[in-house]
Amino acid sequence: MRATAKAHTNIALIKYWGKRNEAIILPTNNSLSLTLDGYYTTTTVEFDNSLSKDQFMLDEQTVFGEQYDRVTSFLDIIRQMAGKQVYAQVTSINEVPTAAGFASSASGFAALAAAGSKAIGLHLSDQELSRLTRRGSGSACRSIYGGFAEWEMGMREDGTDSYAVPIAPADYWDIRVAAVVLSATKKSVSSREGMRRTVETSAFFQGWLDSVAHDLAEIKQGIDVRDFQKVGEIAEANCLKMHATTLGAQPPFTYWHDTTLVVMQKIWEMRSRSIPVYFTIDAGPNVKVLYLPEHETHVQQTLRNIPGVTDVRLSKPGRGITYI
Ligand code: ADP
Ligand code: DP6
Ligand code: CO
Repeated sequence: MRATAKAHTNIALIKYWGKRNEAIILPTNNSLSLTLDGYYTTTTVEFDNSLSKDQFMLDEQTVFGEQYDRVTSFLDIIRQMAGKQVYAQVTSINEVPTAAGFASSASGFAALAAAGSKAIGLHLSDQELSRLTRRGSGSACRSIYGGFAEWEMGMREDGTDSYAVPIAPADYWDIRVAAVVLSATKKSVSSREGMRRTVETSAFFQGWLDSVAHDLAEIKQGIDVRDFQKVGEIAEANCLKMHATTLGAQPPFTYWHDTTLVVMQKIWEMRSRSIPVYFTIDAGPNVKVLYLPEHETHVQQTLRNIPGVTDVRLSKPGRGITYI
């Protein structure tokens, strides 16, 4: 009744931004990501008949409130699947800042789904595990796989065809990602709230949706032939379109800080000097920079020298779920 799993975060190159069903997390569009080896979560779940409710420890602190509720609601789904009414002790360590735009919900719920389903005795295929994981946090369903993964939005309203599929494993292509850390504190608008507000009110939401299919087809072609320029250009453009939707929301908001823009301009400047670097940004102020190994030293140094940058953490493509 006890299992431990490790899951890495992933960075979306084609963003998931919008839900068509909030209750069971069905997205408005397909998305595509790269799993990162530098950021991960390790979670242990132990079901115990002597417990009268679930317990959740994150980074050695007992968690209450909204974060606790998200975990127990997710465990309810696992209990229902297994047909067992038993509570759990959940112990999790995030090797990633929590709720700061580094996709802690992705590694967090992927690790919880894997450890929880194994501990209760479910034997899930990767596809079933991804489908389950989606219910905790949408982006997490892609972290079941290493390397590149695509979340297929599915057509059915019961969610049975909405899960991630592997596109290429971690060792397929050594693309690097530098996470430029400006702030590791909790963002004021969660991904969930930001997405909801955008879907409901943004004047630009339809424009965003209309552009995704093209970006997705192009980036998959780029991945197929390992065309770094193509992948980088599409990822950067897709990110900018997603962030533009927040400015058209009511009330308007942005995840960017002043230094976010400084980093973006530095990337454009490096490109004007023929260094192939591209950025993408999730729901937070921190910038993820895509580059190839031969430019690592230069890229890292340039980013570290930007005032306001507190850290630069380098990642390679990461592996999918592992059990410890
Ligand atoms: P992020 O950019 O970090 O993914 P989100 O707003 O999407 O930010 O999600 C953050 C939330 O994910 C946290 O407030 C918490 O509810 C949940 N979360 C993060 N890490 C874990 C974990 N290890 N186990 C369970 N839930 C987690
Ligand atoms: C901008 O998966 O964190 O990072 O499903 O509500 O938990 P919930 O949201 P979440 O949203 C991620 C948004 C994004 C883009 C992406 O990862 O695809
Ligand atoms: Co998230």
